[in-house]
This record gives sequence, C-alpha cells and structure tokens, in this order.
Amino acid sequence: MSRRKKLYEGKAKILYEGPEPGTLVQYFKDDATALNGEKKATLEGKGVLNNRISEYIMVQLGHIGIPTHFIRRLNMREQLVRQVEIIPLEVVCRNVAAGSISKRLGIEEGQQLPRAIVEFYYKKDELNDPMVSEDHITSFNWATPQEIDDMMALTLRANDFLSGLFAAVNIRLVDFKLEFGRLYEGDMVRTVLADEISPDSCRLWDMETNEKMDKDRFRRDLGNVTEAYAEVARRLGVMKDMPRSVPDAPDEAAK
Ligand SMILES: Nc1ncnc2c1ncn2[C@@H]1O[C@H](COP(=O)(O)OP(=O)(O)OP(=O)(O)O)[C@@H](O)[C@H]1O
Ligand SMILES: [Mg+2]
Repeated sequence: MSRRKKLYEGKAKILYEGPEPGTLVQYFKDDATALNGEKKATLEGKGVLNNRISEYIMVQLGHIGIPTHFIRRLNMREQLVRQVEIIPLEVVCRNVAAGSISKRLGIEEGQQLPRAIVEFYYKKDELNDPMVSEDHITSFNWATPQEIDDMMALTLRANDFLSGLFAAVNIRLVDFKLEFGRLYEGDMVRTVLADEISPDSCRLWDMETNEKMDKDRFRRDLGNVTEAYAEVARRLGVMKDMPRSVPDAPDEAAK
C-alpha cells in the first residue's frame, strides 16, 4: 500500500492515486462516524461490506445507463474508480420521512411522503453540511443550472430503480444520499455518480418489521450494525464469496 500515493483520507474511505492517470483507488475503512465526527467507532468488516454493496449498486445503475465513476473492484476493500471533480453538494432523495426532515418539519418518522423529495446540502463539515436552494447553488457557482437538472434527473431515476431493487429483497429504501462529480473527456464534461452507495449513505428498513438495516443503528446505538449491513449484502446476493457467514437477521435482543 505504501507504493501508492495517498491523496485524501476521509471519515470512511481513503483515496489513493490509481494505476493510470484519471483513476483513483477508493479504500473502504471500518471507521464509522456520526454527528459530524463527534461520535466515532470501528466496526470490523464494515468496509468490506460497503465495498461490495456499493460495487453491486453502481454496476446495476450502470446497466440502466446511469453514468458512474465505478470501474472495477480490486479486492476486499478497494475499488478502482474514475477521478472526478466532486460537485460540493450532497443530493438527498427521500421516499419516507426520517431523520432531519422529521426533526425540522415535524413529520412523523415512517410517514410515506406524497412523492420523492430531492434536497441539496452544501458539503462543508465546518458548517455541518447546511441545506441549500438551487439559487444558492447557482449564485455561488457550486453547480450550473444544467448540472442541477442532470443531478435531479439522475437521482430520481436512481431512486425509482433502487426502490424496486431493494423492494425485491424485502427492503424499503427510505432515503439516500448521492454525490456527483464532473468527468472531463476531452473538451466535454459529464455529470457522473461518484462516492459510494451503501448502508452508510442510505436508510434501509426491513419491509415487514421496519427494522433499521443502515447507519442509524450506529447513530442511535441500536447495536448489531455490521450484522445489519451483512444482511443487506446477503439479501442483495453479494455475499457469495465472502469469507464467513453471518446471522440471517440482526439480533432482536439488542434493541
Ligand atoms: N471519483 C471520485 N473522484 C474524486 N473524489 C471522490 C470520488 N468519489 C468520491 N470522492 C470523494 O472522496 C472522499 C471519500 O471519503 P469519505 O467518504 O471518507 O469522505 P468524508 O469523510 O465523508 O468527507 P467529505 O466531507 O469530503 O465527503 C469524499 O470527499 C468524496 O467526495
Ligand atoms: Mg463521505
């Protein structure tokens, strides 16, 4: 690992210089953080699971024509991706009320929303990633109107597709966060999906029991975090050559 240049170390991943220009190696750590870094833990095996789950989802999105940064998985914890210029926004798409929308607008957690709601947050840890409007985004040149349109359209397509993909394995896609980047190809620039899609960046509830199978287990001290991620991976069928088996469902006793 020392032969590669480390370009960035974030809370959940490390980016290394890739083998060819324009590529990066994304390394998935076991670290978990919440409350903007105030709460920290190491969850053994999380990185391996997120690498697999994110690979699977990016590949499936690629199959329906959503451009992503993903090239291929390299090993248990690493994937090769295209280097992009990250648009400094987190694009959140919600189907069911949970988390900050419930808190801010007083909508009960678990309430189905009348339609998918897309929100933009400015990626700035020091400011706690504040929600911003399209006017803020274009005024401060964080993205162009065309890029906002692209991100909206890609997010809503991803939402429809992923809602179905998860529903097929008895999981409700409550909400998720996407990051997009600019991919320069000659004098062309394309908006592509970047970063990761995993239980760290989605709210996933068991369709029947509403049991949380995502990072809220960590945020809310519900226990069995890795077990829940492993169950998501198992249901998606990405566990085939994983090293060891895991319980069928998160342990009820820990709730
Ligand atoms: N294809 C890509 N090209 C360049 N940067 C990327 C790409 N995909 C993801 N990134 C960036 O790599 C970093 C991944 O690290 P990690 O998710 O651990 O960061 P983080 O701690 O969440 O911090 P940040 O606030 O920067 O997202 C993020 O900053 C993300 O925006
Ligand atoms: Mg991140």
